[in-house]
Amino acid sequence: MLMVDIIRKKRDGGTLTRQEIEYFINGYVKGEIPDYQVSALMMAIFFNGMNDEETGDLTLAMLDSGEKLDLSSIKGFKVDKHSTGGVGDKTSLVLTPLVASCGVPVAKMSGRGLGHTGGTIDKLESFRGFSTSISNEQFINNVNTVGLSIMGQTKDLAPADKLLYALRDVTATVDNMSLIASSIMSKKLAAGADGIVLDVKSGSGAFMKNDKDAFLLAEKMVAIGRHSGVRTMAVISDMDQPLGHAVGNAIEVREAIDTLRGAGPDDLKELCLTLGSYMVGFARDIPADDARAMLTEALDSGRALDKFAEFVERQGGCRDDVYNPDNLPKASASIDLKAEKDCYVSSIMSEEVGTASLLLGGGRRSKEDVIDLSVGIYLHKKVGDKCKAGERIATVYGNDDAGIAEGFERLKNAYEYSDDPVRTSPLIKGIVD
Ligand code: URA
Repeated sequence: MLMVDIIRKKRDGGTLTRQEIEYFINGYVKGEIPDYQVSALMMAIFFNGMNDEETGDLTLAMLDSGEKLDLSSIKGFKVDKHSTGGVGDKTSLVLTPLVASCGVPVAKMSGRGLGHTGGTIDKLESFRGFSTSISNEQFINNVNTVGLSIMGQTKDLAPADKLLYALRDVTATVDNMSLIASSIMSKKLAAGADGIVLDVKSGSGAFMKNDKDAFLLAEKMVAIGRHSGVRTMAVISDMDQPLGHAVGNAIEVREAIDTLRGAGPDDLKELCLTLGSYMVGFARDIPADDARAMLTEALDSGRALDKFAEFVERQGGCRDDVYNPDNLPKASASIDLKAEKDCYVSSIMSEEVGTASLLLGGGRRSKEDVIDLSVGIYLHKKVGDKCKAGERIATVYGNDDAGIAEGFERLKNAYEYSDDPVRTSPLIKGIVD
């Protein structure tokens, strides 16, 4: 078999066989097929798509490219959660300790930032000493003792996805339904949980720009999960504007801590309670409403915040920083975007906000980039909010003048205004189960 024939076949709109898919996945993982040929194939798939059978075969080839985690030594029903990626999406930071504080073991594998979207691992590294590069044994031990652990994708778990994820990030080939579905489901299935709750984002800041595509992606992933015997469901949530107010890394961690303290933004809290009620509902086999009551109590009592501190400490971070988030990295300079006249915010192009954060240094321009955890953006005004002339709309935080100027320009263009009041779209758009 020749890689060039596989690229040509997909470039010309053909359907790849299971053998062809396995050939390129195995060859790439072994280092026998170079990045440039796989980039070309990713672009051909991006333009010509894959049918359900190809997507299923790609998922299984990626799953089989490494080992599968055996979580059988963790007592109880283990749940995992994954978001398709958004801007300001710090959900996992709030949701995982929240669910764990209700006694449901959370064994979560997370990723780094991708394209204009942030990643949980980058955010968590805002805690000095925190590590998600832990062994499988430590991971299992943490879940058994703390009730929660988050690990990065090791080189042994779905290594094909790890390689493709980094390559797609810098070759503009992320936002394809089959590539996203196979990427997410291969690593989720490899991570060995009994149940998976997916947060599929829809809107300007998501990889799926409209609800129709978001529902289709959700259906594809739920079908793959079911086919593999894992309870899987998806919540479709709004990403037409960033979630919460903070976009970046340490700045998002601060907002997550505020939420765990009961002082966070309503949209973030609501999404966490919704996703959490399905996770706890799955694990305990109870109605989502009963699970929600348990979660609300855990949040209000401060148990979820304490669980977060316990988790941060166990993975090498400083527990004190959870209770004193001002200790987390902060940028040296800031600049405000102000309203030129009285108006209402009519839209915020989330992808542009994510790109502004990347330009400040909060995301990667190439695979090797080291990100600056201290930079970011705070959106004082969100869609529907009224602004008075001269009032702050957003603040950009950065460490170098060029980055701040670039980020500020991008952010400025992300906002649109109206003279009249504006209606906002619902946060939860539907469920696929
Ligand atoms: N999240 C993933 O894990 N993979 C993708 O391809 C997109 C979002």
